[in-house]
Amino acid sequence: MDRYAVIGNPIAHSKSPEIHAAFARQTGQDISYERILGPIGGFDGAVMQFLRGGGKGMNVTLPFKLAAFEIASSASERAIAARAANFLRFDGEEIHCDNTDGIGLVNDIEQALGFVLTGTRALLVGAGGAAQGVVLPLLHAGVATLTISNRTEEKAHALVAMIAHAAPDAKQRLQARALPKLAGTRFDIVINATSSGLNNEAPALPPGVYAPGSLAYDMVYGKGATPFLQHAMAQGAARCSGGLGMLVEQAAESFFLWRGVRPETKPVLQTLRQQLGEPG
Ligand code: ATR
Repeated sequence: MDRYAVIGNPIAHSKSPEIHAAFARQTGQDISYERILGPIGGFDGAVMQFLRGGGKGMNVTLPFKLAAFEIASSASERAIAARAANFLRFDGEEIHCDNTDGIGLVNDIEQALGFVLTGTRALLVGAGGAAQGVVLPLLHAGVATLTISNRTEEKAHALVAMIAHAAPDAKQRLQARALPKLAGTRFDIVINATSSGLNNEAPALPPGVYAPGSLAYDMVYGKGATPFLQHAMAQGAARCSGGLGMLVEQAAESFFLWRGVRPETKPVLQTLRQQLGEPG
């Protein structure tokens, strides 16, 4: 039986073990998947211990996504662009990293929610690690423009510069804008990649950003609508979604990269929604 794990701190809340157990049952793969509490300052040691104990790969969550990128000896294009990884695969002592968060977001938006990204005007709010991971996949999905806006404006500019360096072809579709300067500019999709919800707050978006038919997407999930989604509904967003689907889709991409089999995400997402008491 091949061993996998998710490492983070804290980790007790992680739904990844049950998601991967469901994928394994569904696809007949003989794997185990456990939770590992990574010591702060002791990430590398914990990874090497799991690898030397026969582990085949790991998912990585907060606060270790940067450290995961740094420990790897090889990285995918999307991990390089994000400079962060949520996926590790071991081959002997070699560690390969990838970032499946962005494709998880895109798959949830396009496949599960049926919202076509091609040609849309997209707004990404936030410029931290979570935002970093999704910029390139959103550009690859064909958005017409991607505006990055952040409470601390310089960080939005720095993220745009970093992605423009990694993907020069996408440069002309990318821009950074201060939150107040968004007033009156309409977007077809607004994605919240800030951690503001953890403090029960919403980012200070000015009125008028939601175009008719627009989707508001919060990468964080929780019971009920997050402060960002409540604000979006009040401001006229046509559709709202939390990030539970993204969690399941990034897991499916990880499972596929490890096992070469693509699991069905719909039934797994349905079960999680029922557990959280969310409408299916
Ligand atoms: P993560 O890895 O979750 O992205 P992070 O790198 O610490 O965490 O980044 C947190 C992001 O949430 C940042 O974009 C932060 O904005 P600042 O750069 O201005 O700090 C954003 N954020 C956190 N709380 C916020 C709030 N109440 N309103 C708006 N943005 C907030």
